[in-house]
Amino acid sequence: MANTILVGAQWGDEGKGKIIDVLTEEADVIVRSQGGNNAGHTVFIGQQKFVLHLVPSGILHKGKTCIIGNGVVVDPVSLVEEIEGLLKLGVKVSGHLFLSETAHVVFPYHRELDAQREVLKGRHKIGTTKRGIGPCYGDKAARVGMRVIDLVNPPRFEERLKQRLKENNEVLKAFGAKPLSFQKVHAAYRAAGDYLKPFVANTVIMLHKACGRGQNILFEGAQGTFLDIDHGTYPFVTSSNTTAGGACTGSGVPPNRIDRVVGVMKAYTTRVGEGPLPTENAEIADMLHAMGREFGATTGRPRRCGWFDSVATRHAAMVNGLDDLAITNIDGLDTMETIKVCIGYRHAGKKYDYVPNDIEVLSQCQPVYAEFPGWKTPTTAAKEFKQLPVACRNYLKAISDLTGAKLFIASVGPARDQTIFV
Ligand code: GDP
Ligand code: IMO
Ligand code: MG
Repeated sequence: MANTILVGAQWGDEGKGKIIDVLTEEADVIVRSQGGNNAGHTVFIGQQKFVLHLVPSGILHKGKTCIIGNGVVVDPVSLVEEIEGLLKLGVKVSGHLFLSETAHVVFPYHRELDAQREVLKGRHKIGTTKRGIGPCYGDKAARVGMRVIDLVNPPRFEERLKQRLKENNEVLKAFGAKPLSFQKVHAAYRAAGDYLKPFVANTVIMLHKACGRGQNILFEGAQGTFLDIDHGTYPFVTSSNTTAGGACTGSGVPPNRIDRVVGVMKAYTTRVGEGPLPTENAEIADMLHAMGREFGATTGRPRRCGWFDSVATRHAAMVNGLDDLAITNIDGLDTMETIKVCIGYRHAGKKYDYVPNDIEVLSQCQPVYAEFPGWKTPTTAAKEFKQLPVACRNYLKAISDLTGAKLFIASVGPARDQTIFV
């Protein structure tokens, strides 16, 4: 399979979990390299639904090595709950999951600050998952964060936590929020630290050894290109590099060890949270929500929906260097009479064939659409590309051509066997 980075090519929730699960078959090591438990990756195995937040989706395959890399921010209490949940479902975790010593730790003050900042922003809020992701990455960049290696060192942890709580409780008080109790946070985090200690490893060395053995590494991206802190619709983004480069810095595997980049995108567009979504459309949103689809895997919020935006996905192909595409949720369009695809934007008399950086301009851009005939046939039972209706095949070819990467996987349902290799 070679070393493969898988990224979301839109605004997150593209179906990365499902595609990772399918590609894991050929991988030896599966790595998360950025984000935290803001992610929600859904995988169906038969009728059993799994939603992974921090643990790489590869854990659902027997015998794989799964790594939470240095670039991830880890809420240890939440990670313990996730591991316990997996154990209850019969998933083997011990000996298969490894947590980087240098991953940063999310604390309750990060979550509280995340929530308070959103309140302060009022109608300009980001619509975060309130998992403390932004404040934790903020501490990392400000060099005041705590890492897993500190969490599992009790005396050091106690001392650092006292310092950090002193500062953060002052900030919380300034927001009018309740200060946090040292005893409570300390007890909960020490318990989580003890639980997680056997999983903690020098994952950079592990990954280099895996490379040396010629093992295949699969990088499981979280969020999507337009939520990237540098390349997304700032400030309506998450706080990590969700694009392909983040996989290298967030794991310690250098760029010259990467063989290919796969972009996952839906056959339409969704976004959860605030910020521009040029092709947003009530008709398609109502249709998908009525089908019981497009509710957030982490927060349960209804996702905003729109037509496929090829201006955006072309940008994603550019900044990620996409070689291959996995197009998911094709079946979501099975009943449409006509399907629109955004092929350009218009703003103040100017045409754009790229995504403008000015967020105000992007928010006001009017999409220019091309129309495609719908196929009005269920696609969910198709096993091969040629079994898909002609109109569907034409649509998929058109959106991959417009994006500028090769169609590799067509997904027609959430299950493993609803995956067509093109
Ligand atoms: P991720 O965050 O990118 O892993 O995506 P999510 O799991 O948050 O959301 C994608 C949703 O689409 C999940 O409910 C998946 O089970 C589902 N899904 C993935 N691919 C397909 C598909 O081809 N068809 C249908 N109907 N559902 C899909
Ligand atoms: P997966 O991996 C979709 C969005 C939030 C919000 C913004 C910032 O499942 O695709 P944050 O809590 O990260 O500070 O929120 O980013 N967001 C996601 N949207 N899928 C995700 O992950 C997301 N993770 C964060 O809704 O708009
Ligand atoms: Mg998701």
